[in-house]
Amino acid sequence: MKILVVGGGGREHALAWKLKKDAPQATIYAAPGNPGISEIGNCVAIRADDIPSLLKFVEDEKIDLTVVGPEAPLSAGIVDTFKAAGKAIFGPTAAAARIETSKRYSKDLMNRMGVPTAYASHHSDAESARAAVAKAGYPVVIKASGLAAGKGVIIAQTKEEADDAISSMLLDKKFGTAGDEILIEEFMVGEELSIFAICDGFTAKMMIGAQDHKRLLDGDAGPNTGGMGAYCPVSIDTDSMRAQVQSQVFDPVLKGLAEDGALFTGLLYAGLMLTEAGPKVVEFNCRFGDPETQAILPLMDSSLLEIISTVANGGSIADSPDFQWKKGAAATTVLAAGGYPESVKNGAEILLTNGKALNSLNESSDSDIKDAIVFHAGTKLEQPDKNTNSQPRLVTAGGRVLAVTGVGETLADAVGKSLHASDSITFEGKQNRRDIGWRELTRNA
Ligand code: AMP
Ligand code: GLY
Repeated sequence: MKILVVGGGGREHALAWKLKKDAPQATIYAAPGNPGISEIGNCVAIRADDIPSLLKFVEDEKIDLTVVGPEAPLSAGIVDTFKAAGKAIFGPTAAAARIETSKRYSKDLMNRMGVPTAYASHHSDAESARAAVAKAGYPVVIKASGLAAGKGVIIAQTKEEADDAISSMLLDKKFGTAGDEILIEEFMVGEELSIFAICDGFTAKMMIGAQDHKRLLDGDAGPNTGGMGAYCPVSIDTDSMRAQVQSQVFDPVLKGLAEDGALFTGLLYAGLMLTEAGPKVVEFNCRFGDPETQAILPLMDSSLLEIISTVANGGSIADSPDFQWKKGAAATTVLAAGGYPESVKNGAEILLTNGKALNSLNESSDSDIKDAIVFHAGTKLEQPDKNTNSQPRLVTAGGRVLAVTGVGETLADAVGKSLHASDSITFEGKQNRRDIGWRELTRNA
């Protein structure tokens, strides 16, 4: 079997790693992939959003299954194109992906289907937006409706901050057309939880929940990032809460999308706020989350490949068994580049602290990292000068460089393994949190 993973980050490395575990005989391809993925598969130099070239590759190489990581190709219609060409692909169509790509569509859908979420109003002129803020009070949440690379959400504590956010989005076009329309949203109080569900258009099969760590620094301080770490399981992810999320969130949302003629096939990610009044939706994503995937998949005992193949081939998962999970816990620490998230410094050589090169994913290659799984995200193998005999060097090539997952009997064990391996890896400017899982660890203390 030949499988193509579209994308080249830590999430895609974790997907490729799990699919290879599920089917060791399969050949994995990734476009564009990364040096970590190339240890288990073949990376092809095609950009994740170059849909015509991806389709040609799949036709030429007779790929059996394509799995899409990032939202950009989904919103650009990769699934529509592949399905029209009769190719098995896992992901939602562009119309269904609007649940992530248009916050307005997502909010209207939730309101129509009675899904619990923050109250919001939509505005395309600054005056009406300011009036809505004055009515809502502070803190207030201001969001660009379109895709803004995770940066289009501002929590304003004062009138001044709110005015600035509104002006930058609607007048200065800081997020381009993504900010042509903005949402003024009620601020919700509670703990966040990410729940992924595999969906076949009608049925949603939930995975265990995970908690992301969005702020750069320990104690949830510093600027927002793409995610500095994650862990699972989470003890507030109780059976009764999950039953509520199934019946009040996933089931009605799939029904609403079906009514809109936009069946959701793929991975639906619910970002939840567990408020005193029960779980409420912060946002949906139409894809696996990063770095939650790097924590969740190492704990999954079931075959991900089997259920993904069923969905990609148009089958039903109504009778699929529930996911099975390993006992214990997983914790992922993200190692970010110097300057992240503001101005990323690329090209720093990645080494082990014992001086050896970190050029292999081989889990037993070095005793300092063998107890963890090192997923590559922003890395690049720099080829040596032809005239020298030196080896290729692994260097940083992106904001989030590596995601280091520890799996252990307890969360404390998992965090310990993740940190031990993280501390064994060095590059100039390396930044990482040391408190992944702190909510859970203090909850149980
Ligand atoms: P993202 O859209 O992933 O950049 O999310 C930004 C973050 O803003 C979320 O993870 C929440 O922590 C926070 N957030 C977004 N909307 C709300 C809301 N209505 N109430 C409270 N916090 C929110
Ligand atoms: N972990 C947040 C995201 O994937 O959007």
